[in-house]
Amino acid sequence: MTWLITGGAGYIGAHVVRAMTEAGERAVVYDDLSTGIADRVPDGVPLVVGSTLDGERVARALNDHTVTGVVHLAAKKQVGESVDLPLHYYRENVEGLRVLLQAVTAAAVPSFVFSSSAAVYGMPSAAREGALVTEETPCVPMSPYGETKLAGEWLVRATGRAHGLSTASLRYFNVAGAAAPELADTGVFNLIPMVFEKLTEGVPPRVFGDDYPTPDGTCVRDYIHVADLAEAHVTAARRLAAAPGTDLTLNIGRGEGVSVREMIDRINEVTGHTLAPTVTPRRPGDPPRVVASADRIAAELAWKAKYDVHDMITSAWEGWVRLRPEARRG
Ligand SMILES: NC(=O)c1ccc[n+]([C@@H]2O[C@H](COP(=O)([O-])OP(=O)(O)OC[C@H]3O[C@@H](n4cnc5c(N)ncnc54)[C@H](O)[C@@H]3O)[C@@H](O)[C@H]2O)c1
Repeated sequence: MTWLITGGAGYIGAHVVRAMTEAGERAVVYDDLSTGIADRVPDGVPLVVGSTLDGERVARALNDHTVTGVVHLAAKKQVGESVDLPLHYYRENVEGLRVLLQAVTAAAVPSFVFSSSAAVYGMPSAAREGALVTEETPCVPMSPYGETKLAGEWLVRATGRAHGLSTASLRYFNVAGAAAPELADTGVFNLIPMVFEKLTEGVPPRVFGDDYPTPDGTCVRDYIHVADLAEAHVTAARRLAAAPGTDLTLNIGRGEGVSVREMIDRINEVTGHTLAPTVTPRRPGDPPRVVASADRIAAELAWKAKYDVHDMITSAWEGWVRLRPEARRG
């Protein structure tokens, strides 16, 4: 099999490329390098620089490399930015996907894995009741970004049914960590890098609200190591290749909640920093608790996360201090 990995120069995509090639699959990266880094693409893996909006370029890449499956990670992913730039997000994430699917069906590529997100659930009712979020939990996205992911799932499923394409939409929960320091996330959009940034500046990290109906009053999330997530892609991709007509929608999480306060305590333990967080008012739209049920992926793919939160923080910190050595204490 040869897999075209769109967004393969990005944080998660680079991990998927590495997991795929280590598992013996051939990979080709397709990326416009808008947020990706070419150096993340390993030697021996071709990099085609192009946008998913460029159907001719995609078609040529599928043909030139005799692609037999696509893992589509290329997208814009910042929730706040999507509120300000909805047209841009719909164009990149939905129109880019439509153009890509058109080329995929024209070339009769049989397998398609799509990067979705827990953002499709929005403020899940299950979370309010303290239950786990299953794939049957109603999807009510609260941002244009989440909407583009849900619309993307619909488009992928409808195309799969109409054109005999095997599909999997993978709903990632909170992704963290790195398989190697040079593959670490360079953005500061998630809790762990946001806390690292504050600690590096010598400023207390912030907790947005400590009066939620959770054990310590701070929001609870489900964190997944990016190396585990990448392994899940390999497993899903192989399932699609082996079983034509597959149509999967799967949460990828650990099924364990960690509060913001617990996370900051663990980050302080790993980094040696001791700054106590300051509590500021709640941010609008933050659900108290979003924790995945990981039962369906365990049943469907026999996949289970191997790494814990300590592994995520340790590996993310190694990547962080590689770029910012001043962050290390002492
Ligand atoms: N990071 C997370 O916590 C998280 C959580 C849920 C879902 N996701 C999804 O995972 C995927 C990868 O996210 P990431 O964190 O690695 O982000 P990233 O920004 O590091 O990677 C995205 C990659 O896609 C490329 N790209 C963007 N638009 C493109 C286009 N139109 N054509 C070609 N290439 C394009 C970028 O250059 C980049 O290399 C995205 O689809 C994102 O929505 C991420």
